Amino acid sequence: MKSLHVELGERSYPIYIGSGIVHQPDLLNQHISGTNVLIVADENTAGHFLQPLLATLSAFNCQHITLPAGEAHKTLDTVSTIFDVLMRERFDRNCTLIALGGGVVGDICGFAAAAYQRGVTFIQIPTTLLAQVDSSVGGKTGVNHPLGKNMIGAFHQPACVIADMSTLQTLPERELKAGLAEVIKYGLIDDAEFFHWLGDNMSGLLALAADKLSYTVNRCCENKARIVAADERENGQRALLNLGHTFGHAIENACGYGVWLHGEAIAAGMCLAARFSVRSGCLQADSVRQIEQVLIATGLPTKPPEQMTGEQCHELMYRDKKMRDNLLTLVLLNGIGESFLTNKFDQNLLKDFLRTEFDTP
Ligand code: GLY
Repeated sequence: MKSLHVELGERSYPIYIGSGIVHQPDLLNQHISGTNVLIVADENTAGHFLQPLLATLSAFNCQHITLPAGEAHKTLDTVSTIFDVLMRERFDRNCTLIALGGGVVGDICGFAAAAYQRGVTFIQIPTTLLAQVDSSVGGKTGVNHPLGKNMIGAFHQPACVIADMSTLQTLPERELKAGLAEVIKYGLIDDAEFFHWLGDNMSGLLALAADKLSYTVNRCCENKARIVAADERENGQRALLNLGHTFGHAIENACGYGVWLHGEAIAAGMCLAARFSVRSGCLQADSVRQIEQVLIATGLPTKPPEQMTGEQCHELMYRDKKMRDNLLTLVLLNGIGESFLTNKFDQNLLKDFLRTEFDTP
């Protein structure tokens, strides 16, 4: 097992990465507050992992709730169902919530933990690649609003993250590929060497080669821990982790949450960010070809959905969380592994670019 550290002063915590580690009571128990534990799972993960986790936690008064799976259920109503259990069971402030599942469950459970009695202990046990490499680390929690993705939320750091590689062996192929989009993102942001390693090792990752998966989760978590430690509240460089997300969130919202998986929308979003970087004169067209090649080899989309219009994308992008004083901040690329933030791009060029990308048959 490897242990990484997210350095955030009194909110610091470990990320444990290994195989079978979710069944080690000593690892988990040391991070639990109190005697009352609520496991929040989703219907996809509960069948595989809930009973073993309940056995690991046999020393505690352990309740569980299973949420419907999918981004469409990442709502305030779903959060309320967690509060109902906590209230009914009379859980006090010294309780622990455990998110068991993918990014949606982690975001919902983390938000419930941030809000219940103004904040209780929370542990992440991510069981999808996407959650292991990105959403379980860094304390972003929240839910969607019908008009915008992740618009309601809070920063609430977990007490620990337990990334058990064995959970990936049952991951549906589409979810694996969606997780690989966030993996590729780390290469593009500031780790060109890793991007090229991914290009050489994608078939092994798609075949669930354990050594390659664990190398990948480690490398992504190292990158994420470093970025979050430097900018917990996203006042600066953490926003680089949003590469492809402003375009991608617009896609997720326009198609209806859950129709495109988050990672699929981010894959197309990263291509749009790369192509707009070329249009803005900061990236070579050959780099876009390399990015598309890796995404295609992964089985991910490189183009936005056909039914969406440029106008619609533009409108949704300008409702993004990253708007400040009417200015939209985008993450663009100077090269592979060289991302930067800007709100000084040519706004008319963006409109024209979106028309070309979305409205040209
Ligand atoms: N997923 C982006 C972040 O955690 O900042």
